[in-house]
Amino acid sequence: GKVAVLMGGRSAERQISLKSGMAVLKALAGAGIDAHAFDPFSQPLNDLLDGHFDRVFIAMHGRGGEDGQVQGALELLDLPYTGSGVLGCALAMDKARTKQIWQGVGLPTASSRIITSGQEFDAEAVLAELGGKVMVKPAHEGSSIGMSSASSAAHLKAAVATAGMFDTQVLIERWLNGPEYTVAILQDQALPAIRLKTSHEFYDYEAKYQSTDTEYLCPAGLSAADESALQELAVAAFKALDGRNWGRIDVMCDDNGDMFLLEANMVPGMTEKSLVPMAAKQHGLSFTDLVLRILAQTEA
Ligand code: DAL
Ligand code: MG
Repeated sequence: GKVAVLMGGRSAERQISLKSGMAVLKALAGAGIDAHAFDPFSQPLNDLLDGHFDRVFIAMHGRGGEDGQVQGALELLDLPYTGSGVLGCALAMDKARTKQIWQGVGLPTASSRIITSGQEFDAEAVLAELGGKVMVKPAHEGSSIGMSSASSAAHLKAAVATAGMFDTQVLIERWLNGPEYTVAILQDQALPAIRLKTSHEFYDYEAKYQSTDTEYLCPAGLSAADESALQELAVAAFKALDGRNWGRIDVMCDDNGDMFLLEANMVPGMTEKSLVPMAAKQHGLSFTDLVLRILAQTEA
């Protein structure tokens, strides 16, 4: 049967999603699978039925594609799809609730505050409570969109206003110096960890997709014991959110080397520069192997 590769959509990560989707489409076509691009931004989802598709590879990032909405619609259309279900996607797209779940099951994540944008708050008090320097994020975004750091009350107000342009909920998190790691999950198991090294203050949009001097270390240079601990943490974090099959868990260390969970990505990037393909390669899987393993979920 035919496979629809869902890509694009309306989120702020639309352009990244189109790149992910085209890479997936090319891999499927190369493997002899009848696959077609489908962008819910330009056609209604029920065209999937008229188009006689019988399963769906979701390559949409951000709101509308990675947050349970499209997953719910596909459930109702009775079309099997890749990745996590409605609950897992909805939870993972919400960084504040993600942290609450992790805290609830005893997994480590940095202390934080959530602010409703436009709401008055005591910036001095928040800074003092969170250690003097913070990372500010829209609660439901990806690819570092709308994120900035702050270590003064004036900068914190400005950072909250910036994040507030993308979201009504803004997460203010204790600053972690790193190093930063990410762990890809495939078939519910951890792939080799990747260490990210950026010359920027943090791994921002430009460092992710444009910069040529971002370094990716895979293997990550951890001891065997630390690599296993990181992988176990990632799998536990993924499971706690009801993650299914594949995803990616981002982790940051503090100066003591303690690991803190940052967030979960239920439809991680699949572009040339993306991290899950990099980890898969280290594990001996080509990009096409990776795509086929993700798609295999829809055959079950
Ligand atoms: N949000 C981007 C696509 C990622 O996690 O790779
Ligand atoms: Mg993300």
